[in-house]
Amino acid sequence: MKRENFRILRYPGGKQRMLAHIVQHLPPPKTIRARFVEPFLGGGAVFFALNPSRALLADLNPELIDLYRGLRRYPEEVWRVFRRLPTTKRGYYQVRDMDVSLLDLPGRAARTLYLNRTCFKGMWRHNAEGKFNVGYGGQDRRWVVSRSNILSVSKRLRKVSLKASDFEEVIEECSSQDFLFLDPPYRPGGREMTHGHYTYLQFTYADHKRLAAALRGASRKGVRWAMTTSSHPDILKLFPGKRVVSLRHGTGRRPGILTKRSGEVIVCNYDEVKR
Ligand SMILES: C[S@@+](CC[C@H](N)C(=O)[O-])C[C@H]1O[C@@H](n2cnc3c(N)ncnc32)[C@H](O)[C@@H]1O
Repeated sequence: MKRENFRILRYPGGKQRMLAHIVQHLPPPKTIRARFVEPFLGGGAVFFALNPSRALLADLNPELIDLYRGLRRYPEEVWRVFRRLPTTKRGYYQVRDMDVSLLDLPGRAARTLYLNRTCFKGMWRHNAEGKFNVGYGGQDRRWVVSRSNILSVSKRLRKVSLKASDFEEVIEECSSQDFLFLDPPYRPGGREMTHGHYTYLQFTYADHKRLAAALRGASRKGVRWAMTTSSHPDILKLFPGKRVVSLRHGTGRRPGILTKRSGEVIVCNYDEVKR
């Protein structure tokens, strides 16, 4: 039988290649009594790999959540629009410059998927007016997405709640039976890790402190959580007394390339998972 393929997005910092290293430290999905909650969804590699029976998936990026909503509800329409979008550089810029307020949900979803598959390195970057402004990358990675791929993703999303929101609101609404998996933006090593400079994807050191406070609140409520993050001391000192597992392979500084001695860790508030 052909294996279903849930890889729909190119996602810098995505966890697709590190799944085996991460999943072994998470509770088996059957032991999650209520929801699997992922507040920094991105490409959703961990969600698709675990296939939990109930989930709340969220991200601050409204275009991304709109894409998943479109795929869930209108997979055939999204595919139909996606496959007809232009194949030239000029066409790419026309699609990029479309007025999204004039598009319906399948149209917006197809456009976002198209931009992700054909922009430079699958980056997400917006200008001051909130408009996607990544340059053209080519058509090579576009047809990795197929109709059956879209239908598989759509089916998998049917049983989940999707929310475009900051992480704090999502963590606050967790209850003790939920399990939280978090993969906030970070970049191991480099200048960005020092307090004032850590602004990768606008996720500042102040955001990391806010995240640590929200997770303290979750722990007080009895919510189990695990987070992939940088092993930088400035980050780890925000989580005193928590279990820290080094990930031997990580995403490193260059998107898409796995490195040994990644500088990435999993921080969690529960004991080692017995299998
Ligand atoms: C490292 S990526 C997650 C990648 C994902 N785990 C995967 O495998 O594809 C981090 C995500 O956090 C989102 N994000 C950034 N700031 C956020 C915030 N304040 N609240 C919620 N999500 C945020 C970004 O839009 C991005 O999708």
